Amino acid sequence: MRPLLGVLALVTLLSPGLACPEPCSCSTKKNGRLLAECAYRELRAVPRGLSPNVTILTLSANRLGHLGRSSLAEAPELQSLWLGYNHISAVEPGTFAHLLHLKNLDLSHNRLADFPWQDLGGLGALQILKLSNNRLSWVPRGALAGLRELRSLWLNDNALATLARGTFEGLPALAQLQLFHNPFNCSCQLFWLREWARSTEAVLSGAASTLCAEPARLRGRAVTDIPAELCVAPSAQLTYLSSLAKAGPGDGLTLSLHCSVAGSPPPEVRWRVRTAAGRSLDIRGPAQGQAGSRRRFLAFKNGTLAIPDFGKDDEGTYTCLAVNEVGAREVSLHVALAGSEGPAEQLPRDDPQAGHPAGHGCAGRDEPEPPGAGENLVIVYHVPRGVRSGAGGRDIPPGMLPLALGLPLLLW
Ligand SMILES: *[C@@H]1O[C@H](CO)[C@@H](O)[C@H](O)[C@H]1NC(C)=O
Ligand SMILES: *[C@@H]1O[C@H](CO)[C@@H](O)[C@H](O)[C@H]1NC(C)=O
Ligand SMILES: *[C@@H]1O[C@H](CO)[C@@H](O)[C@H](O)[C@H]1NC(C)=O
Repeated sequence: MRPLLGVLALVTLLSPGLACPEPCSCSTKKNGRLLAECAYRELRAVPRGLSPNVTILTLSANRLGHLGRSSLAEAPELQSLWLGYNHISAVEPGTFAHLLHLKNLDLSHNRLADFPWQDLGGLGALQILKLSNNRLSWVPRGALAGLRELRSLWLNDNALATLARGTFEGLPALAQLQLFHNPFNCSCQLFWLREWARSTEAVLSGAASTLCAEPARLRGRAVTDIPAELCVAPSAQLTYLSSLAKAGPGDGLTLSLHCSVAGSPPPEVRWRVRTAAGRSLDIRGPAQGQAGSRRRFLAFKNGTLAIPDFGKDDEGTYTCLAVNEVGAREVSLHVALAGSEGPAEQLPRDDPQAGHPAGHGCAGRDEPEPPGAGENLVIVYHVPRGVRSGAGGRDIPPGMLPLALGLPLLLW
């Protein structure tokens, strides 16, 4: 090795711009770019002694097995890096991060089970990324976002079973994508890919070979052909019901919110409670609805949330979230108790109409809601006149427990 190093040092001294490590051959192309050609050399490591001006480095078809963080530190001007057909199984994070001018990166036909995705954050010039024929089983959410010049992305022939929704968003230049020969699990989590493929201007090359491996009933079917009826985003409708318990003294007003949902697969119902008094609660499933020393909010499997002894402290926003693999939907109600000085217990218990359930709903269905919409409804429980002590009650028919949607609907 020593004589070799000596020669290298000499070459470097004599002609720094054309330093070329043995056994590569280097040349300056017509456009002035410096090529270091090191393919088919049985190399086990990236050779040292590259010119700092090298813009194209071909290392394809060697025996590289591991790329250390500093392995490309000598070549910050690289625009094209060809590493295909090696044995690379690991790339240390940071290896590519400093290659700010990189346009082409080929790591296809290696043994990568992982990739330093975070390095892509600095590679804003990247146009072609080939990671095909590896062992990648996932692409982190958002890993590709920001590759504004990326035109061509090859992820075919890997071990991808799913991809996070939005993986290919934020790629305005994307023209060609290869995903075939991956064992895709065509659960509704992947349904977005079908929708994306149908709407994008990029070409999904080999779409007919981009197949489902799971579930069994969809095996062999193209991902772009997942039946739409299997995967329907949730819809939700929130209705409410008030009733006075008559079981005995101390029982007050029970407010029941019912969230009826539809979708495929059947959505899970969750509740989010934000009371004006500052209480904040997320209820996921029936069991948690009964958590706490006092069973304040009772969430049932059928989508009902009951709040017994509804009082001033319970005023606030009640949100039903319907969630399935395709998406999420939320509907909210602001609930307020009118006649604030009078707690619900003071409502007349012997009023024949008071116990009658009154139900009304607000739907969150097909029309897309901007954030915050659907939260503009207020239910007000008026305490009927003559029962409450003190003035200030509104002019409402006596003997009723009216439910009012504050705006824009009035129920009476
Ligand atoms: C790299 O290129 C620049 C400009 O093209 C030149 O001035 C510089 O000498 C080169 N550096 C080396 C080490 O060749
Ligand atoms: C496919 O995905 C679904 C939902 O994401 C999951 O429940 C199921 O276990 C997956 N199937 C396989 C074989 O991994
Ligand atoms: C849901 O179940 C609860 C408890 O069993 C019941 O009180 C409530 O009426 C049910 N809601 C609907 C809409 O069926």
